Amino acid sequence: MTDTATPRIVIDHVTKEFVSREGERALALADVSFNVGANEFVSIVGRSGCGKTTLLNMVAGLLKPSSGRVLVNNRPVEKPGPDRGMVFQQAALFPWLTAIDNIEFGPRNQGVPKAERRRQAQALIELVRLSGFENKYPHELSGGMQQRVAIARALATDPEILLMDEPFGALDELTRSQMQDELLRIWEASRKTVLLVTHSIFEALFLSDRIIILSPHPGRLRKEVKVDLPRPRQRTSKEFLEYYEEVHNAIF
Ligand SMILES: Nc1ncnc2c1ncn2[C@@H]1O[C@H](COP(=O)(O)OP(=O)(O)OP(=O)(O)O)[C@@H](O)[C@H]1O
Ligand SMILES: [Mg+2]
Repeated sequence: MTDTATPRIVIDHVTKEFVSREGERALALADVSFNVGANEFVSIVGRSGCGKTTLLNMVAGLLKPSSGRVLVNNRPVEKPGPDRGMVFQQAALFPWLTAIDNIEFGPRNQGVPKAERRRQAQALIELVRLSGFENKYPHELSGGMQQRVAIARALATDPEILLMDEPFGALDELTRSQMQDELLRIWEASRKTVLLVTHSIFEALFLSDRIIILSPHPGRLRKEVKVDLPRPRQRTSKEFLEYYEEVHNAIF
């Protein structure tokens, strides 16, 4: 059961304005409010530039709102923390560390003993199907493989909240749908709270309890769609396609 009564994440009248060095102002988000319940899977969709990454970065603690509040577990977000795992739009691996050392980075900082963190990292390597590549450096991996290491790294500290910015964008269609299945499996097994940014309406519909649709310039909340379909979802069912139309029409 999804517990939407206890919000894990609260976005409360959030506005974000960027000011350039020349003093030019750009309003990225205007008065956006929504909640994400504990164990809920919520996706954010919307056109390029509507403020999805900006929003996710605020939940991650990498950016502050210009006005409004971002709360995680009822506390204003001040900085990044091990309770929130982040997968960035561009795989942001440490180039001087191998795949497995990238995955172990967070647990190592937390003081998890070497043998234990290696065992966990090895299991994550298998989860993202990178066995045999654990000792490669990022530049020796393809873009999609780097992204899979980034996903494993985000999971390594076992965060309560998973923030993902287009995590599967660089993957081929087949790997992408495999990773969606894996993510669903991880979410169902661990009951993490997931906030996912995606350009794919299909992906959002396949995975989410709820879809937040933003309109661009500035980003505003256009619509929330609750996806009332049992999982695993049939991507070609009539109901699925009806939802597709609803979300599509809200974006365009
Ligand atoms: N650091 C920054 N300085 C100035 N403007 C910024 C900055 N970061 C983002 N913006 C602007 O804020 C708006 C939202 O950007 P953001 O990256 O959040 O969009 P997005 O929805 O993630 O787009 P995409 O789907 O292309 O990734 C854009 O107009 C962008 O130009
Ligand atoms: Mg983005």
